[in-house]
Amino acid sequence: MAQDEYRTLGDKLFTYRRMVFPIDQGIDMSTEYFDSLEKFEIKDDDLFLVTFPKSGTIWTQRILTLLYEQDFPELKDKLTYDQMPWLEFRELGKEYESRPSPRLLCSHLHEHLMPRGLQSRGKIIYVFRNPKDIMVSYFHFTQFMKKLECPETYNDMLDKFFSGWMVGGCWFDHVRGWFTNKDKYNILFLSYEEMIKDLRSAVVRICNFVGKNLSDAAIDNVVEKTSFNYMKKDPLANYEFLPEDIKAPGKGNFLRKGTVGDWKNCLTVAQNERFDKVFQERMKDLQLDFVWDMTEMHG
Ligand code: A3P
Repeated sequence: MAQDEYRTLGDKLFTYRRMVFPIDQGIDMSTEYFDSLEKFEIKDDDLFLVTFPKSGTIWTQRILTLLYEQDFPELKDKLTYDQMPWLEFRELGKEYESRPSPRLLCSHLHEHLMPRGLQSRGKIIYVFRNPKDIMVSYFHFTQFMKKLECPETYNDMLDKFFSGWMVGGCWFDHVRGWFTNKDKYNILFLSYEEMIKDLRSAVVRICNFVGKNLSDAAIDNVVEKTSFNYMKKDPLANYEFLPEDIKAPGKGNFLRKGTVGDWKNCLTVAQNERFDKVFQERMKDLQLDFVWDMTEMHG
């Protein structure tokens, strides 16, 4: 079977055109819908956030929805994912064409599946994170997201990560696709680790990129409301409203540790060496730097 064809991966995931999606009856899972996204019409002031899962999506979504709050008062009290919905996980009955502009949209799609119109219009923020922390974060995520297969050990998780049998597909391909094609887009590459190191500077970078001229006090407000401790206490940011058939209560939260280098507490020396070997083989030619632990953050 060709790599691009539709097929299921167990009973919780399916793959189509080298992307991996969760099986979810609440969203439009038709291949026609995914195919149509390449032709999704882009407007000049559209803003997309693109990430691989567990790279800081909810965090950046929250920053952006706060920055744009004034632009869509009618969405002010809505959930973040209503203010900035998922392109490819479109809830049944929803459509995006007539959403008020500027439209904020979020995506885990690989570069080859994104609307082609983004190459001449609109803007993208791509947030990336060191993959060991992503892998650990995803491991914990599967413990409470009932619709995902839960690996029993980190060895199982490494297999998943290297084969790309997880939501979002293969991390190596995701980062490579976006990074090597970045010059086709109006895109800002931002790392999770730089947001951790200096959130205020990251918010200012985002403001400059999207053309928002905020007062110092308004920026301080965004920084305060998107700090880990603030968001961790926010039941909406933690998706505590999700029903029990989706999120198992008491088994973990969307906002977990929010740090750099937690993989050191989770992987054995052998697992870490295995990771480094694969990373070297698959990423050695890519000129993108990753920050692996807190000690690299100072200076
Ligand atoms: P950890 O599991 O390592 O703690 P995503 O939103 O892409 O699924 O990413 C989830 C990761 O982002 C989780 O990482 C979560 O804790 C972290 N995160 C979410 N909000 C954050 C914040 N305000 N500050 C730091 N990390 C945050």
